[in-house]
Amino acid sequence: MKVNVSTRPLTDVAGDVLVVERYAGQPRLTPEALRVDRALDGLLTQVLGEERFEGRLGETSFVHAAGRLAVKRVLVVGMGPRAECTAETVRRAASAAARRARDLGARTVVMRLIGSGATRIPPETRAQALGEGVRLGVYVFDRYKTGKKEELGIEVLTVLASDAREQAAARQGLRLAELTAEATNFARDLINEPANSVTATALAEAARGIAKAVGLRVRIHDRAACERMGMGAFLGVNRGSTEPPRFIHLTYVPKGRARRRIALIGKGITFDSGGLDLKPADAMERMKGDMSGAAAVLGIMKVLPGLGPAVEVHGLIAATDNMPSGSATKPGDILRAMNGTTIEVNNTDAEGRLTLADAVAYARKEVKPDEIVDIATLTGACAIALGQLCAGAMTNNPTLQARVLRAAERAGERVWPLPLIDEYREGLRSEVADLKNTGPRPGGAITAALFLKEFAGDTPWVHLDIAGAAFTDKDLPYAPKGGVGFGARTLLAYLMATGGRS
Ligand code: BES
Ligand code: MN
Ligand code: ZN
Repeated sequence: MKVNVSTRPLTDVAGDVLVVERYAGQPRLTPEALRVDRALDGLLTQVLGEERFEGRLGETSFVHAAGRLAVKRVLVVGMGPRAECTAETVRRAASAAARRARDLGARTVVMRLIGSGATRIPPETRAQALGEGVRLGVYVFDRYKTGKKEELGIEVLTVLASDAREQAAARQGLRLAELTAEATNFARDLINEPANSVTATALAEAARGIAKAVGLRVRIHDRAACERMGMGAFLGVNRGSTEPPRFIHLTYVPKGRARRRIALIGKGITFDSGGLDLKPADAMERMKGDMSGAAAVLGIMKVLPGLGPAVEVHGLIAATDNMPSGSATKPGDILRAMNGTTIEVNNTDAEGRLTLADAVAYARKEVKPDEIVDIATLTGACAIALGQLCAGAMTNNPTLQARVLRAAERAGERVWPLPLIDEYREGLRSEVADLKNTGPRPGGAITAALFLKEFAGDTPWVHLDIAGAAFTDKDLPYAPKGGVGFGARTLLAYLMATGGRS
């Protein structure tokens, strides 16, 4: 999709669809929309009245311009109440409008820089939200649908700014949107792609492809290398599989001096059958998505050179599937992680924390980061606690966590803190090893995080449990069914805030 910003009056730009906004509870259209209405001899107000258009957020309606404007149709999108308009409102409205325009067959869409005058959201922020809404909203995963390819979708998006200053700000915002949406949609593709195509080897190849395309350092450790490094916990998860494991290490080094060194760790279970503690069919159904954390990390790494924050970022992924077989890790087996900690596996379905334990240990030993953020579809318990629209955050460093939570807020992703209650640590006590991998059912998201905390030591660390939010069964305002790409925008916002922009 080609995106440009114009300052021409909205009554004389050409295109298939012109999008204007309307707020709820407002008797009249915005001044801009009224100018369009006048050109249409009042047709717009008439149609909106007849259709009882209320201006609810995401509501859409359209009229044919019938030659009275340079565009073929005018699409009105509802914004909800003016006083409640935020960047997230713009994201959702832009998505709704773009989806409707696409469904009408539009190739060229002209959209006002919506959300102006409503609140004090700066134009750059509005433009970023608009661009994200459009690009994320029209995402589809249809590469396996025979014959679906002729729907080309929106080719050109022209955003209308009111003056040269707003135009410059909008260009900047739309450029950020292009990169954050690229990261997210790249993650979505990897998540939606089935497990027979996304193996650990394929993830490693994807990482190599990214490194080559955008200029990152990449190291891929195979099984033998992981054995030499003592990654017994990670390799224990791979034991039952015929697919070889891969440990992926991507590095982004900024052009100037790095303000911080950050390790981003993504859970990369390409399929989670549960292992010998096999999952029931309904729980296994979406487990191709158990590499959503890894997908987000790869998406982020892909766009970092384009964004250029002044932080050194290490993307780490311990990739494997979790399968049952004659060679699989058995309940009661004891594994030794890279940092020497011994782990009694009392449930082979708590495999994510085993792979993350070694990734965290690797980060501390090989990367020596100032801080670690891991992102993982770790526990059903987190999804039970927070539902499908919200990720959990847990930490050994509340200051760092607060920065991540603020970034989530700006990015329009819901992340909520859960407490790491010390007393629950005893749920992980083992009779025979340093730790067992699974605690009692209550507080399952917290004990999983307490397990990881053992490996983080004194390195500031935040853990994002995205088990609920990573995958959606129904269309969301700007994410269709399937992989959401959750976390990519939050972590990019976090890296940008930490490293500034080049
Ligand atoms: N990948 C799952 C967690 C999950 C559940 C992700 C639902 C997305 C949706 C994880 O590996 C797992 O199986 N966790 C177990 C842990 C339990 C055995 C302690 C769980 O949540 O049931
Ligand atoms: Mn599992
Ligand atoms: Zn899992």
